[in-house]
Amino acid sequence: MISVNDNFRLLPESYLFSEVGRRIREFKKVHSDKDVIRMDIGDVTRPLFPCVIEGMKEGLEEMSKDVSFKGYGPEQGYDFLRNAIVEFDYSLKGIKISADEIFVGDGAKSDLGNLGEIFSEKCSIALMDPAYPAYFDDNVIDGRAGRFENGKFSNILYLDCLPENGFIPTLPDRKVDLIYLCFPNNPTGAAISKKELKKWVDYALENQSIIIYDSAYESFVRESDKVRSIYEIENADQVAIEVRSFSKTAGFTGVRCGYTVVPKYLKGLYANGEKVSLNSLWLRRQTTKFNGVSYVTQKGAFALYSEEGRKSIKENSDYYLRNAAVIAGSLGEKGFKVYGAKNSPYVWACLEGGHKDSWLLFQQLLEECNISVTPGIGFGSHGDGYIRLTGFNSYENTLKAMERFRSRF
Ligand code: MLT
Repeated sequence: MISVNDNFRLLPESYLFSEVGRRIREFKKVHSDKDVIRMDIGDVTRPLFPCVIEGMKEGLEEMSKDVSFKGYGPEQGYDFLRNAIVEFDYSLKGIKISADEIFVGDGAKSDLGNLGEIFSEKCSIALMDPAYPAYFDDNVIDGRAGRFENGKFSNILYLDCLPENGFIPTLPDRKVDLIYLCFPNNPTGAAISKKELKKWVDYALENQSIIIYDSAYESFVRESDKVRSIYEIENADQVAIEVRSFSKTAGFTGVRCGYTVVPKYLKGLYANGEKVSLNSLWLRRQTTKFNGVSYVTQKGAFALYSEEGRKSIKENSDYYLRNAAVIAGSLGEKGFKVYGAKNSPYVWACLEGGHKDSWLLFQQLLEECNISVTPGIGFGSHGDGYIRLTGFNSYENTLKAMERFRSRF
């Protein structure tokens, strides 16, 4: 029989959101009359913007004619989209990034997982605890996490994110090669200031580390001192790869499109000591394993950079932020300690004055209020006792869910 990748044995039996989904389905099997309001996975509910639909229609129209039909596109994305990204997400904000540093992909989750392929399995890593579970699972699959002992992986440095530090971790006390940071954070909702993030950039410069910066939730930042892009920090292009997504920003969870910035400055070393550009490695990886995002999708994403598109992004994220504020308010009233919601669609909460297991809270909310949440423990040991709720449902459902919660919890 064929040998398989042994690292899979080290993974939890199922991915967090698959397990949440399974438990909800089990509940519904027994209680088919109950209408469960989903506030677990960060999946959006509002439709695509009219300008995106128009952009996609235009693309489809072109695809339907001999003269304008498109076959395989550039693996790293069409120039029209990469140039728009450069102009609106970076240049107009005073950040110097060039189009050949932008790689359009099918969303942050894939890029975050695939990026591991360009780094040695010997690299040490640092992950926030709690963190988006894919970072852990990706590194386990790649064989980079080490041995699993006493609930922790030996080659992962866990960066404690707790209420006491505002969920902003302190710098490692040793040299780490690869550091995953996510702000606004999933799951805690914490956003980071320039001053705090500069410390990480300085650390990475000093230790020759690479930061993988997940800014999938940047469109939710509202406080002016909080960072949207790591490249707002001077010299970050010498240490950071930034991963972005149109999923939460513009309702693309089912469309699939995002992008990754790999600055040309970034270098790595082969085992023989030879230097290599990370941008060229990523290009090599993408051109080999990926045939690009569909033309129609990229036309839709391009429309996000029109005046109407940018206005819609703001309105869309305001809408979800309003939901998050409703959730935070209701949980606060019922004796929860509540975090996030300000610069983030996520609400991170635990019971004030008494620990309760995350999965028990999950089950209680499901059974008593018919609301599904994500158990915090699924994001790491510091998520124990927490739940995460998302503002991504409709406003009406959010109000309904919180009404149920207030009357039954
Ligand atoms: C989440 O709920 O954490 C996210 O939706 C997961 C994702 O973006 O893949």
